[in-house]
Amino acid sequence: MSSLIEQATLRLEQLRRAGVAMPVKEAPVAVSPVAELVAAAPMNAAPSPTVAEAPAPKPVQVSKRVEIDLEALAIAGIVSPNAPRSRIADQYRVIKRPLIGNAMGKGATLIENGNLIMVTSSVPGEGKSFTAINLAISIAAELDNTVMLVDADVARPSVLRVLGLSPGPGLLDLLVDGSADLSSMLLRTNIDKLSILPSGTPHERATEMLASDAMTRLLADMGKRYSDRIIIFDSPPLLLTTEARVLATHMGQIVMVIHAEKTLRSDVQDALATIEACPVKLMLLNQARTNASGGYGYGYGQGYGQGYGYGYGYGYGNKAAP
Ligand SMILES: Nc1ncnc2c1ncn2[C@@H]1O[C@H](COP(=O)(O)OP(=O)(O)O)[C@@H](O)[C@H]1O
Ligand SMILES: [Mg+2]
Repeated sequence: MSSLIEQATLRLEQLRRAGVAMPVKEAPVAVSPVAELVAAAPMNAAPSPTVAEAPAPKPVQVSKRVEIDLEALAIAGIVSPNAPRSRIADQYRVIKRPLIGNAMGKGATLIENGNLIMVTSSVPGEGKSFTAINLAISIAAELDNTVMLVDADVARPSVLRVLGLSPGPGLLDLLVDGSADLSSMLLRTNIDKLSILPSGTPHERATEMLASDAMTRLLADMGKRYSDRIIIFDSPPLLLTTEARVLATHMGQIVMVIHAEKTLRSDVQDALATIEACPVKLMLLNQARTNASGGYGYGYGQGYGQGYGYGYGYGYGNKAAP
């Protein structure tokens, strides 16, 4: 299946051929990762040793830099820094606010691990990836917030594909090889404050690994090294795998996406029961209505209201700070 970006690019071409005036003159460039390597600033770099017998310095870990086609992003109906006043951007501006407040400890209650945000749902296809990507870009657009988007739906990864980026190593590789370095797998992007940790090399026991000790260690490492970052996990659905529930236990906040017209009320209740322990749960009613022609002209809609349970869209699972 082609990515949203590819679909959008195609649609743009069709419109252009049909003589529809486009807001920009340049044709969108196909997205391709830039192979340029950028020296990553070592997070906790110790001063270089000056004594002669000091061990040879470890090779500097580099994060690869990739280029997201921002114009195609906007056309695909995804939040883009190129279209800051779009409807989708406005919607996510509202949705992200409480998440940022909790992550930065600005609410009435301090949320432990508030900067770890899991985006999940009851069943597949409800819009987890769409939500995680939009949230990540929307939050990264703010001056104060740096964001890491982790594709943790390792059995059905889609973040790179949706953004038009080529597959590469990531989370699963880190879990298989405990000595691999997180920063070397991170992709820096042309959205300055956004980096991406891909799901990585497919593995037959991928989902199981989310509940492994290696994952727990990795989360602790992330928490320590990137405590100032908001880390968003695009995750597997809760009712399909028990591993997603284990992952949920490490998170400070969970956004549960509910497909407005499809998800069964009983599924929502069952899924909520599995994440009872998480301090903050937010529900997002997503009315994904895809257009057969692809990524353009989606009737997107984020239901958004107060309440708790199916049909209300959004609510806190407890009395945590709004
Ligand atoms: N609010 C929305 N507006 C437009 N398209 C959406 C919306 N939410 C989801 N989609 C589309 O619906 C499909 C399924 O969403 P996706 O995020 O991949 O689901 P999941 O990750 O939960 O399996 C994708 O093609 C996605 O682009
Ligand atoms: Mg997905």
